[in-house]
Order: sequence, then structure tokens, then C-alpha cells
Amino acid sequence: MARFLSIQGVFKYAMIVVPGPASKELGEAVAAELGLAAEPVEHRLFPDGESYLRLPPAVKGEDAVLVQTMAPDPDRKMMQLLMMARTARDLGAASVTACVPYLAYMRQDKRFLDGEALSLDVVLGLMEAAGVDDLIVVDAHNASSLRKMEADHRVKVHNLSAIPLLAEYVKERGYGGAYSLSPDAGAIRLAEAAGRVLGGRHGYFEKSRDRKTGEITMKVKDLDVDGVNAVVFDDIISSGGTTARAVEGLKRQGAANVAAACVHALFMPGAEERINAAGAGLIVSTDTVESSHAKVTVAGLIADHLKKL
Ligand code: R5P
Repeated sequence: MARFLSIQGVFKYAMIVVPGPASKELGEAVAAELGLAAEPVEHRLFPDGESYLRLPPAVKGEDAVLVQTMAPDPDRKMMQLLMMARTARDLGAASVTACVPYLAYMRQDKRFLDGEALSLDVVLGLMEAAGVDDLIVVDAHNASSLRKMEADHRVKVHNLSAIPLLAEYVKERGYGGAYSLSPDAGAIRLAEAAGRVLGGRHGYFEKSRDRKTGEITMKVKDLDVDGVNAVVFDDIISSGGTTARAVEGLKRQGAANVAAACVHALFMPGAEERINAAGAGLIVSTDTVESSHAKVTVAGLIADHLKKL
């Protein structure tokens, strides 16, 4: 992708950025980073809840970048994205890139219990059918599952990470040298990446989830953090239970200030209160999902990647 046009000696990307209804601000910011004006989509909801969408005819012949996150209300947001992709194709876009900073359904990436739907596989199949060529996501829940499933679909996946940006943010707020913690062994790469920016140690707690009830158990090991600042890094905060337990565990071991940082702020009711009650001194997220905690933007990260594609 990233073709250039020369208009009166000025080079511009032969790309059109269309923010979907779920990511108006972020889509506009991505376009601005590329020196382009975002092309608005016309959108409304019918009384029965169906979406109406109309794309700008200007997508014809262009590399269309559709920016649409998938929260809140992942089913509706996905349907809107599929409608945008199919329509961009029908209107003659040269290529279709779905930029989905928070890709929902990633947590069900394998069959934990017999008969479960492989949601991630279903989502990739739908995108393929809608004509998506490239899919850009930020901090996929399980990068290796996504890579494996990508092999079964004609959609090229690009997984970017916003962890260094979150780490920079907390570093500037007194957390330089802090201990970086992942609340789950499987997400240790997040703590590792953050630790490289913060310049402190990193580690993890061990979390397990009851597959039937969803209840979390966290094994809090001794991390020698007495008097040390610490930051919990996770990809998603939903109910806040995971992060709250991790913050609590660090506090119990004598950690000084503890911050909570996540990429995708789903924040179900009560999540913020739970994390604050556990003793967090700071909560921050990126803007992959619109939230009052979104202090770090991924617009530059996405735009830089689009330039390289
Ligand atoms: C799961 O493995 C994810 O990485 C997050 O830890 C999880 O989604 C957070 O969920 P909650 O905030 O509901 O504990």
C-alpha cells in the first residue's frame, strides 16, 4: 500500500482515511498524522437497532483505511465495520485496510471447553468475506494465536504495541525505575516491554480463570517490591478484577505507589472503583477505546505503520 500521488509537485498519500462511527476522533487523528482530511461516513441507527451507513464515493481507486474499534457493543461495531469494508470494495477501493485498534473476540482464541465457538476465527473469516486485505490491531490479546489463525485467512494482520507509549506516560509521572508487572504469566511480554522503557525490574503474578464461572484466582508471589513504585500493565481492563487483584498484591508486599495501565479500557461499571479501592494511585489507558482514562493516543503509532505498509 502507501502509494504516493504528486499534486502540483506536492506528494500526498494515495490513501483515504474513513473513521467509522466507533472511532470518529481516533480516525480523524490518524488522518491528521498523515496530513490528510478524514472522509466522514454518514451513519444513523434505525429504531430497531440496525445501522445505516453511507461511505464517501471518493474511496473509488484509493487505498481505503477504515478506522473502527470494537467496543463498547462489539457485535454492532463489527457489523458496521463489515458493512464499511464491503461497501468500500463495491465502490472500487484499490485496497481495504481495517484498522481495528481494539479487536473484540480475541480472548476466545481456542476451544477451552468442547463445543465452544472459536470467536477469533469467526471474526477473521467475516473480515475476509467482506473484502478486508489488511487488518491493523493494537496489542492483540494473544499475538501467537492471531498469527496462527492468520494463516487460514486471506487477511494480512499487523499487530502493533502501545505498551512503550503507556510506559513513557507513567515514566513522566514519577514511575521511572518502577517495577513492571503483568497480572498473568501469558502476558509477561507486556511487562518486559514496559520494563525496557521504565528501566526497572519486571515480573508477573499467576492468574487462572474458572472456565465455567469466570472466577479469577491469582497466585501472588513475593516480588521484593517493598518501598518500590510499581505499575500493572495489562492489555484489557474489563471488570477491573484482574488489575485490582494485582494492585492489591503489590500493595500487600509494601510497594509504594502503584499505577494501573492498560491498552484497551473496556471499564465495565464498577471497574474504576475496584482498582482505586485496591490502592492504585493512577489509572491510564490508550484511546483504542474511548474512555475517560484514555490519556495516551495510538494515532501516531497507527499512522506511522500505515506509512510503512
Ligand atoms: C485476560 O486474559 C486479559 O488479558 C485481561 O487480564 C482481562 O480481560 C481483564 O479482565 P477483567 O478486568 O474483567 O479482570
